[in-house]
Amino acid sequence: MGKLERRLIRAFIFDLDGVVVDTAKLHFDAWKRLASEIGIDFSEKDNERLKGVSRMKSMEILLEIGGMNFSRATVAQLAEQKNQWYVELVDNMNEGDILPGVVDFIEELSSLRIKTAIASASKNACLVLKQIGLKEAFDVVVDGTMTRHAKPDPEIFLLSSGKLQVPPELCIVFEDAIAGIEAAHQAGMIAVGVGNEGDLESADATINGFEGLNTRVLSLILAEKRHIDVGLWKEGDDAQKKTYR
Ligand code: BG6
Ligand code: MG
Repeated sequence: MGKLERRLIRAFIFDLDGVVVDTAKLHFDAWKRLASEIGIDFSEKDNERLKGVSRMKSMEILLEIGGMNFSRATVAQLAEQKNQWYVELVDNMNEGDILPGVVDFIEELSSLRIKTAIASASKNACLVLKQIGLKEAFDVVVDGTMTRHAKPDPEIFLLSSGKLQVPPELCIVFEDAIAGIEAAHQAGMIAVGVGNEGDLESADATINGFEGLNTRVLSLILAEKRHIDVGLWKEGDDAQKKTYR
């Protein structure tokens, strides 16, 4: 085995939808309702193309699937309608909708004084975090209201790294969408896929979810898969010293 690349990680950045909470189903239900309203046949497979993508880009993809064209004003109205239905569904969410193992993992990071951020394309990210009781759980929240360029553009991750005051190469991103993995890589970050390994081949490592995960297990997975030797930064460390916990 060649020499491992060493990094002392100082922050973890989480995508929200599909990583911290399973809102993908709710987005799908709202898009499906809109699709049937305007006469588009929309399947769960089609919905995969909308994951991680901004609301307006999703709207474009939906109309492309249906081979339909509307004026800009109508497209905006349709997107607004979908959002209203989505927000109604979000109103029924609670702590029980947090994906298994997420809270334990965040608590471990917090106890180690490792910084955390949410980086979500969603303009509803704060609402969702409030519903599931995690609004105060992260050091930084960057959402779709703060960025101009959607993933796979690295803007959202670079903004998160700036707000966290941690260089990109010392951040690990968790993402369930290919566009998000690409955005993290373009930002110079390590990207861990959450989901199916086959669907997220470009990720540095893939996990099925957070159940049973801790930082030591994650560092073993990264070392094995991509030869990245991940330690965790702790107060008092200088940039060169590697520390395992
Ligand atoms: C992403 C979701 O996080 O946010 C997408 O994966 C969604 O499915 C996008 O379309 C935008 O969300 P919102 O809440 O601003 O419409
Ligand atoms: Mg996602």
